Amino acid sequence: MKKHTPLTPKFPHMLHGGDYNPEQWLNCPEILEEDIHLFQQANINCVTLGVFSWANLEPKKDHYTMEWLDSIIDKLYANGIYTILATPSGSRPQWLAAEYPEVLRVRSDGMRNLYGQRHNHCYTSPAYRERVQKIDKTLAKRYARHPGVILWHISNEFGGECHCPLCQEAFRQWVKNKYGTLDALNHAWWTNFWSHTYTDWAQVHSPSPIGEDSVHGLSIDWRRFVTEQTVSFMKMEIDTVKAVDPSIPVTTNMMNWYTYELNYYQFREILDVISWDNYPEWHNPWGNTEIAKECSFTHDMMRSLKKRPFLLMECTPSATNWQAVSKLKKPGMHALSVINAVAHGADSGQYFQLRQSRGSCEKFHSAVISHTGTANTRTFREVAKIGADLEKLSDLVYGSESPAQVCILHDPENKWALDCCRGPRNAGLDYFGNLRRNYSYFWKNGINIDVIDSTYDLDGYSLVIAPMLYMFREGIQDKLRKFVQKGGTLVTTCFTGVVNETDLCFLGEATQEKLSDVLGLWVEEVDSLYDCETNHMTWNGKRYALRELCEVVHETTCETLAVYESDFYKGAPALTKNHFGDGMAYRICSMADDAFFYDFYDKLAAQLGLERAIQAQVPDGVSITWRRQGTAKRIFVQNFLEQSALLSLDQPYRNLLTGTILSGNVTIDGYSFLVLTPAETESP
Ligand code: GLA
Ligand code: ZN
Repeated sequence: MKKHTPLTPKFPHMLHGGDYNPEQWLNCPEILEEDIHLFQQANINCVTLGVFSWANLEPKKDHYTMEWLDSIIDKLYANGIYTILATPSGSRPQWLAAEYPEVLRVRSDGMRNLYGQRHNHCYTSPAYRERVQKIDKTLAKRYARHPGVILWHISNEFGGECHCPLCQEAFRQWVKNKYGTLDALNHAWWTNFWSHTYTDWAQVHSPSPIGEDSVHGLSIDWRRFVTEQTVSFMKMEIDTVKAVDPSIPVTTNMMNWYTYELNYYQFREILDVISWDNYPEWHNPWGNTEIAKECSFTHDMMRSLKKRPFLLMECTPSATNWQAVSKLKKPGMHALSVINAVAHGADSGQYFQLRQSRGSCEKFHSAVISHTGTANTRTFREVAKIGADLEKLSDLVYGSESPAQVCILHDPENKWALDCCRGPRNAGLDYFGNLRRNYSYFWKNGINIDVIDSTYDLDGYSLVIAPMLYMFREGIQDKLRKFVQKGGTLVTTCFTGVVNETDLCFLGEATQEKLSDVLGLWVEEVDSLYDCETNHMTWNGKRYALRELCEVVHETTCETLAVYESDFYKGAPALTKNHFGDGMAYRICSMADDAFFYDFYDKLAAQLGLERAIQAQVPDGVSITWRRQGTAKRIFVQNFLEQSALLSLDQPYRNLLTGTILSGNVTIDGYSFLVLTPAETESP
C-alpha cells in the first residue's frame, strides 16, 4: 500500500503546535523571546500565525505593517519551528467597517449588525472581497516563498449567513440559474400550497422568521446557496494566494457539527488539506465514551472528505472558556484526545492557544503557556509529553492510510431537510442519534468506517449504512441499487427514501425512486412514539426496544426477520432483508437501541468478513482503531474511562512508544492509550 503524499511537503512531519497571537505582546519583546524557548520545551514544531491579525497588518487602509510578522516567522524558523499562515479575513478592522458599511452582516429579520465580534461580514460584498484580496495578495507576496511557511490557513472557521440586499440579489440569481423558469421553481418548491406562487423573480427572498419559512424547498435551497457563497468567497482567497505561489497547500479550519450549517463535503474540492477544530465537553455528565464516539465520528468524516489524513487544527490544552461549564481535562485526557484524532487519520495535534491571552473574551481559555508564563504547569507538561510521543510516531504513522470496507452515509442536506420537515415527530427526529447508534459497533471494535455524503462513489465498500436518509438526492438511488446489485450489503433505517432533492414526497406504492425494488417492501404509514413509549421486536432469540418512529411496511419480495410486538401493527415487519442482484438490503423499520445495533452488526461483520484491528473482546469504554503503513497495522487502543481496562491480545504486539513486546492480558490505564503493531510484521 502506498503512503499518502504529505499534507505539508515543506515539512513532511507530524505537526504539533497551535494558534499563536504574538501581536498581543509586541510591547513585551522578552515574552516573545521566552515563548520560543517554551515552545521548544513543549516539543512544538509549528505555529499558526495571523488568525484575526488584520488590524496589526493593515492598521490604516493600504498601509501595511508586517515587519513584526517578518521577525516572528524568521525567529521561529531559525529555531526549527514552522509557520502555518492565516489570512486575516475572519475578523475585520474597525476602519474597514466604518468606511464600507456594506461589509457588516444583515440578520434574517432584515436588521444590519453593528460593528463587533468576528465572522460578522458579508461574503457577497464586493468591497469586502476586494479588501480581503488585497491583503491576501500582500501577505502571499511577502511570505509564500519563505522556507518556514508550510501551509495557508484560509480565514478562520467560516460560518454564518447574511441577508443583505447584495445577498438577496445573489440568491435570486442562484435560484434563476438553477430553475430557469418560474414554473420550474414553483413546481420544485410546491408554492401553489397556501397561494405562495412566485410571479416575478424579484419576489424570491431568503427564509425569515418574519417572512417565508413554510416553503421547505426554499429553506433547503437557501442553505445550499449559503454553502456555495461561502465556498466562492474561500475560493477567491485561495486563488489569490495560489496566484503568487501554487506550491503551498491550503486549508481552512472546520468545526464540529457546523456541517449542519455549511455542507462541508463541498469544501473538499477546493482545499488541499482538511483540518478541523475539536472542542468536546470531556467529563460532562453524559460520559466520555459517548463524547469520544462523537469526536471519532467527526474525525472519520474529516478523513473521508478527501480520503486522506487531515489536521487536528485546534483543540484546547485543558479547559475552554465558552462551554456552559468549562471543565479541566483530567490528567491523561489531553494526550488521549489527541491520539484519538491521530487514530482516525490526523497527522497533527494542534491547539488554541499557545499563549493565554491577557484580556478580552478568551483570557480564561486554557493555553500551553498560561498566565504564569512558565513550563511549570500540569497542562504544559502534558502537552510536552504528547508532543514527544507524536515525534516518536511521526515516521511510523505520518501519511498512513485508514482502509475502510464500511461507510455510513451522513448527509448534511438530509439533515437540513429533516430539520424543516414538520412531522412525523416534531418532538425530535434524532438524526445524529441514529447515525451514532449505527456507528458505535465499528468504532468500538476496530473496524474502520468512512463517513461520506450522497455524492461519493460507493465502489470498494462491502457495507453501506444509510440511517434515516429521508432525502434521496439526485443519483443516490442508482448508486445504491448498483451497489447492492453487484454484491454489496445495504442497511437502511426508518424514514429513509421519502422525498426528493427539493423535498417533494415520492408518489406511488412500491417505486424505484423509493428503492422499493432493492428493499423488497413499501411503506404505508409511520407512527410516532412519545419519549415514554416503546414497541419491541425479538430477533435471534433476543428482545429489543424500539422507539420514536415505527414504519408500517408491506413486504413485496423481502423476508421478515422480526415483527412488532404490540400496537395495532403488531405482527407487521420491524426488520427485513431482501436479496437483490448479488447483494442484500436490510431495513430496520424503527429506531432500535444500542443493544440491537451491537448484535446486528456483530453478526453482519462476521458474515462479511470485515477486517478488524485485532481479534479481541473489547472492554467497555475502550475503542480500537487502526491505520496502515506499508503492510503493517498501527493499532490505537484508547480507554476513555477513568478506571483501567483489561484487553486480551490475540498475538504479540510491539508497543510503538516504548518498544516493548506485549502479549496475553494487558492493562490500559484510565484515560490512556497504547499504540501497537503486530510484533512479527515489522520492527519499528
Ligand atoms: C475556535 C476559534 C479560535 C478560538 C477557539 C476557542 O475554534 O477558531 O480562535 O476562539 O474557538 O475555543
Ligand atoms: Zn450580504
